Amino acid sequence: MGVSTKRIVKNIEKLLKKHNQSHLFAFWGQLDESQRNNLLGQIQELDLAKIDGWVANFVKKPISTEISTELAPARSYGPAPADAEQKRKYVKAVKLGKELISAGKVAAMVVAGGQATRLGFDGPKGNFPVSPLKNKTLFQIFAESITAVSEKYQTACPWYIMTSPLNYTETTEIFRSNNYYGLNQSDVFIFQQGTMPNFGFDGKILLTDKADIACSPDGHGGSIKALYKSGAIDDMKKRGVEFLSYWQVDNPLVNIIDPLFIGLHALDEAEMSSKALIKAGPREKVGNFCMADGKVTVIEYSDFSDELAERQNPDGSLAFQLGSIAIHIISVSFVEKLNTGELSLPLHRAVKRIPHIDEAGGAVEPTEPNGVKLETFIFDAIPMASKSVILETRRSEEFAPTKNATGVDSVETTRQMMIARAAFWLESAGVTIPRKPDGSLDCVIEISPSFALEKDDVKAKLNKIPEIKSGDKVYLS
Ligand code: UD1
Repeated sequence: MGVSTKRIVKNIEKLLKKHNQSHLFAFWGQLDESQRNNLLGQIQELDLAKIDGWVANFVKKPISTEISTELAPARSYGPAPADAEQKRKYVKAVKLGKELISAGKVAAMVVAGGQATRLGFDGPKGNFPVSPLKNKTLFQIFAESITAVSEKYQTACPWYIMTSPLNYTETTEIFRSNNYYGLNQSDVFIFQQGTMPNFGFDGKILLTDKADIACSPDGHGGSIKALYKSGAIDDMKKRGVEFLSYWQVDNPLVNIIDPLFIGLHALDEAEMSSKALIKAGPREKVGNFCMADGKVTVIEYSDFSDELAERQNPDGSLAFQLGSIAIHIISVSFVEKLNTGELSLPLHRAVKRIPHIDEAGGAVEPTEPNGVKLETFIFDAIPMASKSVILETRRSEEFAPTKNATGVDSVETTRQMMIARAAFWLESAGVTIPRKPDGSLDCVIEISPSFALEKDDVKAKLNKIPEIKSGDKVYLS
């Protein structure tokens, strides 16, 4: 070890002591040169002064999310205009949205850093097959949609994909081996979110082995920093991209690039906007749109009290009825602003089972939660926006997430909703769809994004649609 490294080690030892994390060096004497370098690098990445605050406020305190007591329901644009004046605005917004897309000012962005634990799928969730007939994966559906957008608007729509350090390599390999699903490799930008250290309940950072700190992805809110650090923002600026159309990897029904949504965001000069739907019930597991201190705010279902969730309007509808489907338009300038200012997203704590080593260096595989993971949520940026638009959409058109292996929000419900939407689009264009006496569908239909991106695209393709009979399986591409 050179003199300067020795000095660094001494300084770090002092610093760790000051911040009550000396145990991170407990096995230093047993490490070889490369392990030492590895551990040093990881410790140098830690912002120990900040970590003291996290320990006090989030690790040792059982409740970390401060909820304003002055909450009111948020207001939204409806799925259809409410009156003639609004109708004019929607027409203007669609026109502007289309112009912005054609001018290359809109990029697609998906967050795909999650671990698909609930789904029980081994590998990046984007590689999960969902489409009803062709078994296309989520990534393939999104890629085909982006190709179709680029063709429809005569542009090259770039796609930014956030992964975590845990699934980055696998994700890039999936894209490479699928030849980027026909997209230009240069228009696909795969980047990694950051991580945060994991803590024991006593505030001590856990080690996974003698030379590695236990850490986990920093939540989808980490995308704000990661977009900046990865060079994605620079790439967007070079291309002239001003707006990001953001969605989650689990929802194949997403209208990836929606002119109306983009246009309303731009017309209202919003910095971050959201799509919402009317919740299926008071306790649907989605974020709740509220107004807190005059700002649009999303409160996660797990933090939303029963009283608020069940509060009703005089007509019996839910007072807080707008649920988040995690689809946003985010201005690139807003991401830059968040990165250059002092603002940072609040932390959320999750109590988890975290494998680690104990003081003697022995492996511990806990059977009960033994520590705290911290993460940030993208929707916590909404109240930081100078303006924020909410557009209500219809569940059957835009929201069919695959989250669980079975039951609610499972691949089965996703497939049924994909088929139901395809049938609705065809029926809306005048195509006869076989149904059973109870009204349920008597056929399976899959519409490829290259055939139609939205309902109105079907009308121009009527001559390509065969007669559909009971029991048929029809793939339209
Ligand atoms: C999420 C939202 C919820 C919303 C619902 C709509 C949160 C906390 N809740 O719930 O408000 O109503 O979706 O479907 O987000 N991800 C990363 N990196 C991470 C963690 C997650 O990229 O570190 C990505 C996942 O790949 C996924 C998305 O973020 O695309 C959502 O993550 P998940 O943990 O599945 O959120 P939900 O609980 O389903």
